[in-house]
Amino acid sequence: MKASEYVEKYRPQYHFSPPSNWMNDPNGMVYYEGEYHLFYQHHPQSTIWGPMHWGHAVSTDLIHWQHLPVALAPDHNGMIFSGSAVVDAHDSSGFFDGGSGLVAIFTHHDTVQASETAADAGAGTTSRTRQRQSLAYSTDKGRTWTMYAGNPVLSDESIVDFRDPKVFWHAESSRWVMVLAAGDHVRFYTSPNLREWTFASEFGKTEGSHDGVWECPDLFELPVDGHPHERKWVLLVSIGDSPDCPEGSRTQYFVGDFNGESFSSDLADDEVIWMDEGRDNYAGVTWSDVPAEDGRRLLIGWMSNWKYANFTPTTSWRSAMTVPRVLTLKRTDEGIRLYQQPVQELSALREAPLGWSALAIGPDRPQTIDWEGKAFELEAEFELAGAAEFGLKLRKSGSEETVVGYDAALEKLFIDRTASGESAFSPAFAVRHDAALKPDGGRIKLHIFVDWSSVEVFAGGGRAVMSDLIFPDDASQGVELYAVEGQVKLISMKIYPLASIYSR
Ligand code: FRU
Repeated sequence: MKASEYVEKYRPQYHFSPPSNWMNDPNGMVYYEGEYHLFYQHHPQSTIWGPMHWGHAVSTDLIHWQHLPVALAPDHNGMIFSGSAVVDAHDSSGFFDGGSGLVAIFTHHDTVQASETAADAGAGTTSRTRQRQSLAYSTDKGRTWTMYAGNPVLSDESIVDFRDPKVFWHAESSRWVMVLAAGDHVRFYTSPNLREWTFASEFGKTEGSHDGVWECPDLFELPVDGHPHERKWVLLVSIGDSPDCPEGSRTQYFVGDFNGESFSSDLADDEVIWMDEGRDNYAGVTWSDVPAEDGRRLLIGWMSNWKYANFTPTTSWRSAMTVPRVLTLKRTDEGIRLYQQPVQELSALREAPLGWSALAIGPDRPQTIDWEGKAFELEAEFELAGAAEFGLKLRKSGSEETVVGYDAALEKLFIDRTASGESAFSPAFAVRHDAALKPDGGRIKLHIFVDWSSVEVFAGGGRAVMSDLIFPDDASQGVELYAVEGQVKLISMKIYPLASIYSR
């Protein structure tokens, strides 16, 4: 990597972004022989969405990534849409000559003429899209890939949106399970060998949010409150943008049970819960095959939104991923809920911290912090003392600020990016939005990651999470503490400048 690279305006300094051109969903995340693989939806010739490939990078620490050549490119079966990858440890597929290797399971997307299939005869259409599931495998740690000659391995042409297979080994039934998005629901299939799939069940036609098409599901089991014997299954489902939905694309989840064939949710049919209540965390799924001794369920999401993803004001590349996060389940008053925390590996980027404590902040006493920066981590603990609203103004200059605040009466955390910087590229961008958050013993704790074009807030120990893009001016580097209608006490605050992952 040349020292001059990765310094373009808005280029994330510690979030994964493609070297150049378009990126959307994370794909094929798998841990294998000491490396975390991250593939991603990629258009190598343009900064807008187009014929999809799988871009590729590897990391040993989830933070520093080595970019590798495009792993999968469109072929006679079509473009390469989203999907997953697994370690086939015992050669169930027969691709590895008795050894082990990586198998990618993804969607082939193409367009067919009506005359090509009997089902279309007389339908009055000249062409339609088709989504079928396929395999590729690698015997060299993901460096090169071979398309399986028997592709596609799963198709159902009665379903238009039929994509984004996430596959895992289900130990209890000794077979592979696939969860797949099928328009307005997900489907489960099982297989002994990754090549032959049998329909098992479906879920979701009447459950959850149907604001958009269902995409990018994931299914995994987690202990509740860390108890190894009390376990629940989590089903993540991303839902696409729709014109009627101001939030655009976002990710909901269900908590329930899975018996190897079917999933049942503990939520009421009309209950909808979101994984991240910011606007820019989409299509997130988790890493496969993380070693048992590590034991973490690790997620990364695409830090953008289909409402405006193609129009964000970056130049040579477009989009970044969220920071990698650890998912856990905890029992709360509302039921069992997902918690998210940034991976502890990020702390390796911390530079010498600055600290503040015991500050009284009031409407007439905002505190401008004597520090400036564009890439940092901030931990703050506030004690409620009457203020109707309080918080932090980040990436601040005369006319710009991104507000991370707390509305004490409504008990809501919010991000206000109405004055955060460039926003004219989409009417949906300049908004204030919020997430429910109860004080804990009269206190609010915020853990915030700011980069050159994003802010991610983890509050209440990871119960409320908001991830947002922002496009501030380079000169907007200030931090201010504020309170409205009354006082708040800052118990303590630490800012860690974060080193760039691009060694310069
Ligand atoms: C989600 C998605 C997937 C699809 C891919 C295409 O963002 O729409 O459903 O496979 O992007 O790039």
